[in-house]
Amino acid sequence: MAQEDLFKKIVAHAKEYGFVFPSSEIYDGLSAVYDYGQNGVELKNNIKRYWWAAMTQLHENIVGIDSAIFMHPTIWKASGHVDAFNDPLIDNRDSKKRYRADVLIEDEIAKYDEKIDKEVAKAAKKFGDSFDEKLYRETNPRVLEHKAKRDELHARFAEAMEKMDLEGLRQIILDYGIVCPISGTKNWTEVRQFNLMFSTEMGSTADGAMKVYLRPETAQGIFVNFLNVQKTGRMRIPFGIAQIGKAFRNEIVARQFIFRMREFEQMEMQFFVRPGEELEWFAKWKETRLKWHKALGLGDAKYRFHDHEKLAHYANAATDIEFLMPFGFKEVEGIHSRTDFDLGNHEKFSGKKIQYFDPELNKSYTPYVIETSIGVDRMFLSIFASSYEEEQLENGETRVVLHLPAPLAPVKAAVMPLVRKDGLPDKAREIINMLRFDYNVQYDEKDSIGKRYRRQDAVGTPFCITVDHQTLEDNTVTVRHRDTMEQSRVAIDELPAILNKEVSMTELLKKLL
Ligand code: GAP
Repeated sequence: MAQEDLFKKIVAHAKEYGFVFPSSEIYDGLSAVYDYGQNGVELKNNIKRYWWAAMTQLHENIVGIDSAIFMHPTIWKASGHVDAFNDPLIDNRDSKKRYRADVLIEDEIAKYDEKIDKEVAKAAKKFGDSFDEKLYRETNPRVLEHKAKRDELHARFAEAMEKMDLEGLRQIILDYGIVCPISGTKNWTEVRQFNLMFSTEMGSTADGAMKVYLRPETAQGIFVNFLNVQKTGRMRIPFGIAQIGKAFRNEIVARQFIFRMREFEQMEMQFFVRPGEELEWFAKWKETRLKWHKALGLGDAKYRFHDHEKLAHYANAATDIEFLMPFGFKEVEGIHSRTDFDLGNHEKFSGKKIQYFDPELNKSYTPYVIETSIGVDRMFLSIFASSYEEEQLENGETRVVLHLPAPLAPVKAAVMPLVRKDGLPDKAREIINMLRFDYNVQYDEKDSIGKRYRRQDAVGTPFCITVDHQTLEDNTVTVRHRDTMEQSRVAIDELPAILNKEVSMTELLKKLL
């Protein structure tokens, strides 16, 4: 199946099974805003629990906060967002559609990559097992021609972005004949800078309203609370502050479902260290975060680091953890060494001293910061998309199954009476009552047992527990495993231990130590 078709199916599945709905759907939706449904919210909460526990429970020196979305507007001046949180935008005069100039060019670069991949795939098919991909990529004239064109475009693009040369970006679009996907024309406006922050007014106009912003990242709430947490928590460097919360960006190009949203959620942790030790900590956090991702068992080959060559002016190292989505490797998490930029600037703009007295060194300094920043929604998408399978069964049927990591699954077990009579529903409810305090379990009695299994497969429920007439005689049930579809007969008393082994968050967290 083409990746594009697969992605469409995944989006449709997310809606059909109560994971993600377009926002305000009965009013035809609101672009790049989504709601999480009854299963989506469980999966999302489990992702957040996994991150929060990994950060705060497993690290003695990391604590959490929950800061407000609205903050003093000068914070966004100090952070650089008012002046520099911009995207270069361009309009097509015929379609009246607005685009990010950099994305139009990146898409053009991606077309060369696709051409190269197609050549390679064709050759791989032709030569079979004897195919040497590396050699082919290095020597095939058509591949080299595409690569040369790609590299030339990439170099021009990188230079224009580095200098934020807006005219240069426009010229690339014109030179490469990039057309508007809607109108098909090259009737482009100038390229302009567009600030991504949403703003609103606080206070009534009579009192003199103040322009405030919806935070575009949660990180600044951590920086401005650095002293509060350090002093009240008696924290000693190195230490971290973690936060999960909503962030808002007026993205010009919002697409790929929940990958790029206007309202989204971040899980960010700022780790404060001694100046000079930041690169060592940067390397440690890269490793720690990758381990967190890989522990989910989605496949190690689906992750890669993308180290930034072009660094923001305040950073001295930065990398992305990319995940193989149906539309290619994409950033899920950023890890940045942000030096003392943020704390230093808040000291400057607020006029308050923001320093740490290091008792071991017997001196005060502005701590340096390593940031780990991951989007909850992107993490959700990476897990959801890579768990989706249309499995061909031996009997010729197809089943749609979500192989979600079991501790993150919305429902851990469905308990099903074989028939709706003879006391089987009561027995099923007894089992629910035994398990519900530890796990989200669901009672399911409608339709044939086969249909019920399929329904639970489609939402990723790891276990189906069936109560039949034998249960009434010997207190045993059948337990069916989602991934293997294997069934075994077990005593009801054994159920907590069976579930615990596979679905408990504790077991997942133990993999991190
Ligand atoms: N404090 C640093 C920061 O915000 P970022 O790279 O802009 O860095 C961090 O964002 C993460 O937030 C990204 O890796 C991504 O997972 C998520 N993210 C950013 N913009 C997003 C958007 N428009 N929609 C969904 N997730 C987004």
